[in-house]
Amino acid sequence: MRILTFSVLRNCKLKSALFKNLSVEVSYAKSEIDKLADPNLVEILPSWKEDEEVELRSAVLKQMRVLPNFITEEEEASLLGEVEPQLKRMRYEFDHWDNAIEGYRETERSQWNAQNSAVLARVRAVAFPAQAQLLPHAHVLDLAPAGHIRPHVDAVRFCGDTIAGLCLLSRAVMRLAHAERAHLALDALLPRRCLYVMTGAARYQFSHALLGGAHSAWRGERVARSRRVAVIARQRPAPEHRP
Ligand code: OGA
Ligand code: MN
Repeated sequence: MRILTFSVLRNCKLKSALFKNLSVEVSYAKSEIDKLADPNLVEILPSWKEDEEVELRSAVLKQMRVLPNFITEEEEASLLGEVEPQLKRMRYEFDHWDNAIEGYRETERSQWNAQNSAVLARVRAVAFPAQAQLLPHAHVLDLAPAGHIRPHVDAVRFCGDTIAGLCLLSRAVMRLAHAERAHLALDALLPRRCLYVMTGAARYQFSHALLGGAHSAWRGERVARSRRVAVIARQRPAPEHRP
């Protein structure tokens, strides 16, 4: 079974050239995100020298945000409760060497119970501009403890300007690297129950990867990974990119 959103990963080359001409301007409808985001959870890597691409650095720091404790333990359990029966019927896929993603199972969901709908409405209100059109379904991506996502840019045919992911069950490190100058890189620590929001330059000019446990570190400390489930909301692709 293939469902459309899955093509975000399936159809993206590890280095996409499509983002090149796209604008990096973003305007948030709400300042809520500024209040909730913790800038200490995003860090420019030392390979990105201080005097290098200064404007790009400040742009990407505004466009990759991590909002810790965006959901409560109870909300996390409720989201998992609704997706777990579906996920449990699937096996983790490991053997596709050419995939952008390893050790995963996934589904998508557009109908949620009342409590989970309220959480997703909060994601929409905080992470997306007021007039943004979202894909009707959320993408539910379940990574095994040994699973990881290789650097990729979400395909513009299947995803618009903004991507917002709720992180359940395990913390993880996400690495963003400029698609042409990979030393311009940053790490984001995604704590359990956080929301991350990626938009503009961070979404188009940088690849993102979800590091495997063996390679996950934050400020010099190993970051252990266990099973991780992400519930990801995406903006609809711009009309000119729609398939
Ligand atoms: C993706 C992706 C990140 C995550 O599905 O395209 O990058 O948080 N997922 O799981
Ligand atoms: Mn992605």
